[in-house]
Amino acid sequence: MLQYDVVMNDRWVKGMYAKYCATLSVDTRNHGIGHAITVANTCEKFARMVNMKEERINELKIAALFHDIGIADFGKVGHNLRGANMTREYLSNKQISNKEMIYDAVKNHTNGGVENLYCKILFFADKIDVCKNRMTGIGAKTRGNRQFAHFEGVDFGILNDTFIVKFKTNGKIDMNELNSYYFVAKIFTSIKALADHFKLKYMVLLDGKDWVVRPSAVNIPKSMSLFRQ
Ligand SMILES: [Fe+2]
Ligand SMILES: [Fe+2]
Repeated sequence: MLQYDVVMNDRWVKGMYAKYCATLSVDTRNHGIGHAITVANTCEKFARMVNMKEERINELKIAALFHDIGIADFGKVGHNLRGANMTREYLSNKQISNKEMIYDAVKNHTNGGVENLYCKILFFADKIDVCKNRMTGIGAKTRGNRQFAHFEGVDFGILNDTFIVKFKTNGKIDMNELNSYYFVAKIFTSIKALADHFKLKYMVLLDGKDWVVRPSAVNIPKSMSLFRQ
């Protein structure tokens, strides 16, 4: 069976991510292989919390590793679809189960609105990788997004019947600006989708206090088309 570690060290995979980074003049920490590996590790952490089998964790991590690979030649627009096709091609002659779930997770990682647990976990892991080390030059100037420069860490766990996600900041956040940014709705939606899947309640904390957002931010229809990718 194809192993995650093999894929992670694959020259073609590394080359695709490096290609994207090399083609842009701004720094590209937000979609390089470092981000893909962080997302894969976050996926694994969640998967272990819900006792997923080793083989499934391996498949999930491979989906996570590939999730942004479609960005290589043409940038962000449509990278999910291109990435799914590249994943399909790469895995076509490899021995691994649940290929369709892997492609589907890559394809839908930008909106998460599908009944595929790999996709739900990937959507969550991708969205919570928002800390300052991912801030790009452009991102730091974008209203709303620039608030993520104050994020220093994130952790999560399941306590009894509650899925708890905790963000740590440097305390300098403008909460009004942050909460009006579309991406916050995506973070909350990804958390709610996982909590619903496992029939858990959820709690999101920012520096130990409830991160309160407008209710509409989490009551988002299945189709996430209202939101920018
Ligand atoms: Fe992406
Ligand atoms: Fe991503």
